[in-house]
Amino acid sequence: LCHCKIGPSILNADLSCLASESQKMLDNGADYLHLDVMDGHFVPNLTFGAPLVQCLRKHIPHAFFDLHMMVAQPEKWVKDMAEAGADQYTFHLEATSDPESLIKQIREAGMKVGIGIKPNTPVEDVLPFVDKVDMVLIMTVEPGFGGQKFMSNMMPKVKCLREKYPRLDIEVDGGVGLSTIEEVAKAGANMIVSGSAIVKSSDPKSVIDQLRAAVNK
Ligand code: DX5
Ligand code: ZN
Repeated sequence: LCHCKIGPSILNADLSCLASESQKMLDNGADYLHLDVMDGHFVPNLTFGAPLVQCLRKHIPHAFFDLHMMVAQPEKWVKDMAEAGADQYTFHLEATSDPESLIKQIREAGMKVGIGIKPNTPVEDVLPFVDKVDMVLIMTVEPGFGGQKFMSNMMPKVKCLREKYPRLDIEVDGGVGLSTIEEVAKAGANMIVSGSAIVKSSDPKSVIDQLRAAVNK
């Protein structure tokens, strides 16, 4: 089956100390870093862009950077993010009129491809592209902010994908923590993004270990 990976979202960390906060997550057992890019258009919040990713890459040379691109024009930042050191470019299906050519563009830039859908987007919409991407992201909150409540009613999307694609990397993002990981695991997700549950814990290592144990059970 698919390997379980835990990718902390640093959105709710102290962003003025992003390098040390990120390193702390890796030291505590994170498998990759989930970096939330927001443009104030696709979502009602602003975070950061390629210049920051490039700086972070200098401090964190080896970790896998999954860029969660919550932006209105995902085509626009592919080259910059690749040059900044992104490993995977996860765009939103809702944000592009031509997913096929965007997927091609991301691959040509040398990155892995993730495709995400918001809570109101049916899973059927993403099915035509699953064979062409490395990962599908099922949002379990409305994108824009950390610390929101997990939406259990997104689990049928995960189940549907897992049934059709036993080996697909399926990522969940939003409100995932120790009280919600069981249903996430049962539905079949294997790439677990968790923000506040890890960042706000006094023992992040134990949270990461417990999340992983629940998925591997
Ligand atoms: C929400 C972001 C998530 C978020 C996760 O728009 O995409 O990555 O930071 O944080 P929690 O786990 O606190 O919901
Ligand atoms: Zn995210």
